[in-house]
Amino acid sequence: MARTATLNIDGKTIELPITEGSEGELAVDVTKLRDQTGYITLDPGYRNTGSCVSDITFIDAEKGILRYRGFPIEELAEKSSFLETASLLIHGKQPSAEELNTFVNLIAKHTPVNPGLLNILKGFPQEASPMAMLSACINGLCGYHPEVLDIERKDFDETSSKLIAKVRTLAAAIYRHSVGKPAIEPADIPGPAKAGNYTAKFLQMMFGEAPKPEVARALDLIFLLHADHEQNCSASTCRMVGSSHANLFASCAAAVCALWGPLHGGANVEIMNQLEQIHKDGIDPDDFLKGVKEKKYRLFGFGHPIYRNYDPRARILSKAAEDVLASMNVSDPLLKIARRLEQVALADDYFVSRKLYPNVDFYSGIIMRAMGVPTEMFTVLFAVGRMPGWIAQWKEVRDQKGKIYRPRQIYTGPVNQTYA
Ligand code: SDX
Repeated sequence: MARTATLNIDGKTIELPITEGSEGELAVDVTKLRDQTGYITLDPGYRNTGSCVSDITFIDAEKGILRYRGFPIEELAEKSSFLETASLLIHGKQPSAEELNTFVNLIAKHTPVNPGLLNILKGFPQEASPMAMLSACINGLCGYHPEVLDIERKDFDETSSKLIAKVRTLAAAIYRHSVGKPAIEPADIPGPAKAGNYTAKFLQMMFGEAPKPEVARALDLIFLLHADHEQNCSASTCRMVGSSHANLFASCAAAVCALWGPLHGGANVEIMNQLEQIHKDGIDPDDFLKGVKEKKYRLFGFGHPIYRNYDPRARILSKAAEDVLASMNVSDPLLKIARRLEQVALADDYFVSRKLYPNVDFYSGIIMRAMGVPTEMFTVLFAVGRMPGWIAQWKEVRDQKGKIYRPRQIYTGPVNQTYA
């Protein structure tokens, strides 16, 4: 007997079906609520509302658990590569060596971007926001790949590989433009097309020289940890746009814009600005936190829309920051400040009572900074890492053949005006 929830409203009693997920999550299915009662639910920010069922990523926000297609993030961080994890997310299973090879070769084939697209970049001022350039270029891809516009996913593998390939080339070209240097032709970078080379090649397209293996590995880990995070703001945006049957490139360009916000992917820029300000002005971290508690500003990289525990990605990156700086023989005062902020905040009831812990952004910037990535490029690199997740979410919303996303509202504006 299927479980139901009983709702007594306006003298009526209705039974609403209960949906249970594979990890025991429970939902009251309100699909028929309005038809049966005339009522809708109201949930600003959708914090209690599931927009879909999904097989991609599972998060237990209370326990700080994160799994991609059932695999714990800690295991993937230790054993997988970004590209292998991208294939897992996009295709729904761990790729065989042959499948991975096919994926890697497709990406190698599609790495070059049309020179016309690079001209779009040249049209931007050097100091333009890298996220403005990225969203413009991702959407601009539609102009050079009209085949994308009408895909019914018959060539999904080719199209999704194009996006994974070109976002890397575009991100590197955006960096080069922002420092007044010409883009580096991917063809000029030797090296076999291998899963582990995706990130090393990216760094080479950015900085013009082959990175140390430990640096490439650290950035590959950052990309892997950012690859998906279920129905976060940018993934939900991607699904929302994809539900109108907009093409993959347009849906991911929309997701780039959602990620840009300082409350979401833009937080990795804000936390770095905060750490640099504390260091430059010699502010005592304890005093800085006093300002946070007086609500003068937020501590970026802390808190989360759903985690009420330590973000498992932050735990991994906290250790990686230590290891990368040690391997590069870099000592960054900002890491010490971040450690102090974390130590004091996690002992302070203001943060503990609100269940505010470090999130994925708190330590990622320190690692990217050690590699020479400028702060304003951090969210672009977040987008490179999140691209497989957006692609997987877009494919799922299309495969589910659902209705176009169209939330309801409760109108509270002026009633029945007469127009003079
Ligand atoms: C990402 O959704 C995802 O999965 C996102 C993401 C992903 O992988 O896609 O994980 C990536 O976006 C991580 C989050 C990055 N953002 C930041 O680091 C920005 C700083 N964090 C906050 O702005 C905040 O924590 C949010 C926006 C992330 C979440 O905030 P909520 O859930 O909307 O919580 P809230 O704003 O209602 O805050 C609850 C209380 C408030 O205090 P009171 O009104 O109860 O007194 O906690 C306080 C807030 O003022 N609070 C903070 C705080 N975050 C929340 N106080 C100080 N510093 C903070 N960072």
